[in-house]
Amino acid sequence: MIARAVAVLGLGAYLPDRVVTNDDLAQHLDTSDEWIRTRTGIRERHHADASQATSDLALAAARAALDDAGLGPADVDVLIVATTTPDHPVPATAPTVAAGLGLEVAAFDLNAACSGFVYGLDVASRLAEAGATVLLVGAETLTRYVDPDDRSIAVLFGDGAGAVVLRAQEGAEMGPFDLGSDGTDISMLWMRAGGSREPFDPVAHADPSSRIGMRGGDVYRHAVARMTASSRAVLDAAGRDVADVDLMVGHQANLRILAAVAERLGLPEERCQVSVDRHGNTSAASIPLALVDARAQGRLEPGTRLLLTAFGGGLTWGSCLLTWGGR
Ligand code: COA
Repeated sequence: MIARAVAVLGLGAYLPDRVVTNDDLAQHLDTSDEWIRTRTGIRERHHADASQATSDLALAAARAALDDAGLGPADVDVLIVATTTPDHPVPATAPTVAAGLGLEVAAFDLNAACSGFVYGLDVASRLAEAGATVLLVGAETLTRYVDPDDRSIAVLFGDGAGAVVLRAQEGAEMGPFDLGSDGTDISMLWMRAGGSREPFDPVAHADPSSRIGMRGGDVYRHAVARMTASSRAVLDAAGRDVADVDLMVGHQANLRILAAVAERLGLPEERCQVSVDRHGNTSAASIPLALVDARAQGRLEPGTRLLLTAFGGGLTWGSCLLTWGGR
C-alpha cells in the first residue's frame, strides 16, 4: 500500500514571545530590511529567550497538539523529537519532553536537519500504522547556533516548535514518502565542531567552527532541485498529478526557494503555504508551524490533499502526500 491509513489527530505550535524584525537585526549587522526581504522573503522571526531550551519549546507545542487532539499524555505510546539543536549532545531531548508530560514511554530524537519533520512523519506513521499513538514534535533553537555577527546566516533562522499526534484511522491517507540524503559534501551546511570528529573545547568554542557555516548559493540550488524531484517522486508513486495537490507545505527556508519549487512543479503560487515571512527558517519545526498557520487561515479541511516537501543539511530531503483528516 502506498499510503498509510494514518491521520493527524491534533496539531500544535509554540513560538517564543520575542519577535526580531529585519530592522532590529540591521541595528548591529551590515544588512537591511530590503536586502533580507528581497533575497529570502523573511520579515521577522522569533528568538527564544535565554532561559528557554529546545525541550521547553517542544513541550509547549506537544501540549497544544494533545489538547487539539482531545487526548492526554497517557494516550501517547511513542514520542519523537525531530531536532538538530538538542538541549544537550547527550542525552536526546525527547526524554526531557516526555518527562515534562509525566511520561516514561519510548522517546527518541531524530536529526535530519531541516528535513527532520518529514523524516519523522515517515517513521511516526509506520509506528502509528502498527497501532501506536505517536507524538511527533519538530523543535529548534537555531538562533543559539548562529554567529550573530555573520549577516549571511544570522538573518535566516528563527526558533519555534510544532507538533502532531498521529494514530491509525480507517480511510485516512499518509504517503507515499520519498526520503533521501547525500553525505558527500557535508560542509555545504554544517556546524563543524562539537561532535565525535571534532569535539568542542573552550578555545574551539570561540572559533567560527562552533557556529553554523553554509555555502548559501549551493544550498539554494540543491534545495530547489531536490525538493522538486522529491515532490515529483511522491506524485509519480501515487499516480497523481500536481493538479491533485490542494496545498504545498514546503520547508520554510526562503520564499524564493518555495516559489522556484512551485514553478518547476507547475503549482500555482497561491497553492503554496508561506510562513517564512514571519518565522524565518525554523528547520525541523517549520512544516508543522506552517500547517498550524494554514489551518488558522482556513486552508486545511478534511480531505485537503497536502504535499509536504523539505530539504536540509546532510544533505537530506523528503516529501510526502497527506490527505488532511485532522481537525
Ligand atoms: N545583508 C546584506 N548583504 C548580505 C547579507 C545580508 N544579510 N548576506 C549576504 N550579503 C551579501 C554578500 O556578502 C554578498 O556580497 P558581495 O557580493 O559583496 O560578496 C551579496 O550579499 C550577495 O550574496 P549572495 O550569497 O550571492 O546572495 P544570494 O542572493 O545568493 O542570497 C542567500 C544569499 C543565503 C539568501 C541564498 O543563497 C539562500 O537563500 N540560500 C539558501 C539558504 C537556505 O535556505 N539554507 C537553509 C536550507 S535548509
